[in-house]
Amino acid sequence: MKLFDVYPINDITITKAQGSNVWDANGEKYLDLYGGHAVISIGHTHPHYVQRLTDQLNKVGFYSNSIRIPLQEELATKLGKVSGKEDYQLFLCNSGAEANENALKLASFYNNRKKIIAFKKGFHGRTSLAVAATDNPSIVAPVNQTSNIIFLPFNDEASLEACFKAQGSDISSVIIEGIQGVGGINVASIPFLQKIRSLCDEYGAVFIADSVQCGYGRTGKFFSHDWAGVNADIYSMAKGMGNGFPVAGIIIAPKFQAKHSMLGTTFGGNHLACAAALAVLEVIEKENLLQNAEELGAYIMEQLKAIPELQNVRGRGLMIGFDVPEELKDLKKNLLWKHKIFTGEAKPNVIRLLPSLALSKKDADQFVAAVKEEIKALAPVL
Ligand SMILES: Cc1ncc(COP(=O)(O)O)c(C=O)c1O
Repeated sequence: MKLFDVYPINDITITKAQGSNVWDANGEKYLDLYGGHAVISIGHTHPHYVQRLTDQLNKVGFYSNSIRIPLQEELATKLGKVSGKEDYQLFLCNSGAEANENALKLASFYNNRKKIIAFKKGFHGRTSLAVAATDNPSIVAPVNQTSNIIFLPFNDEASLEACFKAQGSDISSVIIEGIQGVGGINVASIPFLQKIRSLCDEYGAVFIADSVQCGYGRTGKFFSHDWAGVNADIYSMAKGMGNGFPVAGIIIAPKFQAKHSMLGTTFGGNHLACAAALAVLEVIEKENLLQNAEELGAYIMEQLKAIPELQNVRGRGLMIGFDVPEELKDLKKNLLWKHKIFTGEAKPNVIRLLPSLALSKKDADQFVAAVKEEIKALAPVL
């Protein structure tokens, strides 16, 4: 049997990983500023994480949600404490798309409405409703198409206001990433997030904060939406939550009332997933990773902004993007193949940094030095 060939890949096989480094099958060492797509939050194979998962696997790996799983309660308590949302409720699932799917569905159950406001360049996943709310027609199958999604320009308060004025009583939810990831690292403005909050309150709509990529401490606050000083009604999370173990969830404001069978999943919240998620939160707390993300992110951005050839350096904490001019179009490729540094990208010309929150200053300096050297090599006259 062959693999269904949907991923354009780099011809590299990773056989070992530790902290912010990975090694290929030839023993070559790489610096990982991509984190397997923002997934590696506390560092590869962190010893506490490995120990907690190993211990759990030796006890019980999986049982379904038909029995009591005290680890779920332990996780909910810890997540409430670390995120500062102690009065929210936790529903566990398996991926970012599934988290958003459940968030959108729960909003619709709550207010019995159908329309969803999403934003240009937003990405929310590939399942039915999540992909319909994603601004990329090429990944929306005919069966996913729906007239229930309204796409508005990002950070445009006037059009949001006009939309609510015209159809406010039909709007079930507004879904927004705190920083658009796939869309190219576009930061939601603080006044825009505050406007979403006030319009949702005025019209009875649900504010969904897609924190799948930008959340879990990546920006220095637990949710990047927290920078606006307002609470969303539902936060979706995945990627960094399990440091590579597939675990996701939504946290849900107290005003939502649960009903048996309203939401559900076979694998969600299994023993191993909870152990992984708990290990991540324990390390985030113990190693002060939110502070590291905020400070080191600011340092990297400052360094990158001082390089005149790079345009539009932007982001928050360790979620950083910059535009690469045409003359430097090989920068990402050369960073990987010549300098052995993984970075992320966003089409057409954005380099995206999504490293572990435990990245060190030495790693950051290695990256900046490599960028400078490569710019000199690629465009000496720029
Ligand atoms: C903001 C955002 N939401 C949702 C998703 C979907 O997550 P998953 O691939 O785990 O389904 C992604 C994935 O990149 C994402 O960046």
